[in-house]
Amino acid sequence: MIVLGLESSCDETAAAIVDDGLTVRSSVVSSQADLHAEYGGVVPEIAGRAHVERVMPVIQKALSDAGLSLDHIDALAVGHRPGLIGSLLVGVSAAKTLAWSLGKPLVGVDHVHAHLWAALLERSRTDLADAFPALGLVVSGGHTAIYRLDSPTDLVRLGSTIDDALGEAYDKVASMLGLDYPGGPQLDQLAQDPSADATRFDLPYSHLGKGSLDFSFSGLKTAALYAIRGVPRPKNEGGGFPRELADFPDTDRRDLAAAFQETAATTVSRKLKRAAETFEPRSLIAGGGVTANSRLRAELDTFARTHKLRLFLPPMRFCVDNAAMIAGLGHELLAAGEDHGITLRPVPTTAC
Ligand code: KG4
Ligand code: ZN
Repeated sequence: MIVLGLESSCDETAAAIVDDGLTVRSSVVSSQADLHAEYGGVVPEIAGRAHVERVMPVIQKALSDAGLSLDHIDALAVGHRPGLIGSLLVGVSAAKTLAWSLGKPLVGVDHVHAHLWAALLERSRTDLADAFPALGLVVSGGHTAIYRLDSPTDLVRLGSTIDDALGEAYDKVASMLGLDYPGGPQLDQLAQDPSADATRFDLPYSHLGKGSLDFSFSGLKTAALYAIRGVPRPKNEGGGFPRELADFPDTDRRDLAAAFQETAATTVSRKLKRAAETFEPRSLIAGGGVTANSRLRAELDTFARTHKLRLFLPPMRFCVDNAAMIAGLGHELLAAGEDHGITLRPVPTTAC
């Protein structure tokens, strides 16, 4: 079954064509990062308008890259939750229009769940056969959670962040270091400087309650801020930070970036260890933008080896938002008999 997938939940307009859920025939992503950079974050109104301008050209490119026309499409899938409502509306409206005019089934896909499917793309069905039950990890700009997956479509959330998502913490610390939005990839680059010393700054690991599988990254973020600008003075001493970013030398910036990555990656693997003790996973399936992070990828590799788990990590191009993961998971839902048709509505929150 050939599925055309659409993704427009945040600031990427994407379309992809996937055969039988796993074989990616084409994947086109138009990033709006340049439009939002001057504001230091995604501006919902600008994002919605840019999706309107880009959605049809992106679909056309996905078709031409695959050497197909709309006649070859068997079904449509669209990321309909979670996301910015004005952005979701564009993808959902485009998908509904195409499904209705072509007379094809349409399924709505949860974007967070699809990030897990991204790790399975381009594999064979036999490769997936003995992967379950699996430990699932989603680390993106908007979500951070651990799951137990009994099958690719059957997941139970074991824990999630109680404040910032990991990608959000990366972006905010990157911004404190003077890096442009979205800062996660740049912070990664800075930390990879061979002379960076990750032990120079002692940043806190958040464990939360005994046995908790939830995450908290706001303390880590605040500790990074204080390391850069100093601890704020009390009000009766004038308040404010004692230092400016300009007072924080380049060597310190590099070392702090490395310390932040180290602490973030270790925090994730400590929680995964706890989660792995609650059942007997056969594999670790991870996805979301932060799985592009060099330090986290290495940590997950070590974790999987230590716990004798097979590791499913997305190739770099499927870590960040894309529509191949939507089309792929959409195929599984369609094969299971789901068809939302033109009653599908966008929803701002995840169901996962
Ligand atoms: O999954 P994604 O594309 O969008 C959401 O669903 O949120 O994730 C985007 C997030 C951003 O916070 C971005 O900074 C982060 O992924 N990210 C990274 C790296 N590449 C992307 N964070 C750390 N290191 C990277 N190499
Ligand atoms: Zn995402």
